[in-house]
Amino acid sequence: MNLPKLTDIDVSGKRVIVRADLDIVGSENYRLDAITPTLDFLFNKASKITVIGHKGRPGGVYDEGLSTKGLQPFFDKWRAKVEENLRFDPGEEANDPEFAKKLASLGDVYINEAFASSHRDSASITSLPKLLPHAAGIRFAQEVENLNKVLEDPKRPVLFIIGGSKDDKVDYIKSLEPFADKILVGGRLPEYYGDRALESVREQKEGDKLVIANLVQDKEDITLNSIERFEKEIGKAKTIVLAGPMGKYEVEGHMQGTERVFRAVANSNAYKVTGGGDSLVVIDKLSLVQKFDWVSVGGGAMLEFLSKKTLPGIEALKQ
Ligand code: 3PG
Repeated sequence: MNLPKLTDIDVSGKRVIVRADLDIVGSENYRLDAITPTLDFLFNKASKITVIGHKGRPGGVYDEGLSTKGLQPFFDKWRAKVEENLRFDPGEEANDPEFAKKLASLGDVYINEAFASSHRDSASITSLPKLLPHAAGIRFAQEVENLNKVLEDPKRPVLFIIGGSKDDKVDYIKSLEPFADKILVGGRLPEYYGDRALESVREQKEGDKLVIANLVQDKEDITLNSIERFEKEIGKAKTIVLAGPMGKYEVEGHMQGTERVFRAVANSNAYKVTGGGDSLVVIDKLSLVQKFDWVSVGGGAMLEFLSKKTLPGIEALKQ
């Protein structure tokens, strides 16, 4: 892939805007740690760094709980300044050219180090690189390289396990169907499958590509039968992509599905990849990070990349 790299452009002494993934869940720091090689590189080139990013879905209005200002101490080491949450301005998600111009005035060069946000056609992802010399960050390039390994001649069967609650994952599941051998659907997503979700997981046929978990009564976890069926499928897979928790893992008593499925994947001999905000929290909590062959910063972005082989943010960097 012809992605312009950080080493391809002149950043020495320049004002550099780094679009980062600041959408951190809880106290888990994986997404921040992932951008430190780029910050080190820029710092050593005496660049003046401005970090921009979003947190949550504030919908274009200020929300104190989603402020990015609290992250400033993390960036002090590189004398980098963190701007406030981009999504407090409606211009970010509307991809407003005027908002992109305002962002462009913050620097001379643009680096995309926000792989996890690069499936969004937002001002800071797709319009800003049109206005400034640009390149992918070090981690961004590694994400593309490692996720490509899943796409290029993977060992089969290829299994996707998709959970969480964001409804846009239903579209990714549809587009992944031609590539995947099996897709297990958990978390809150079964609710989007109408009658199919009501079918008992025990009756869903062995040969069905899509296996939809049944949910416990309060819908905050998958049932024991679903866990057992998922574990059986995990045992057969040679390549596994795991995206999203199986239930409301943060609440006592709803961790079972998530814990058993994540542990089963971590202990399998398959080539295994996971990613996304909540998955990062889970593997950190269960100390499973080292067990995966690649841990992507992206959740939705990882799935979109695997289904389309590109992202809007990648296409913007290539222009
Ligand atoms: C993520 O956490 O996956 C990214 O920050 C994107 O968030 P979004 O789904 O709210 O666009």
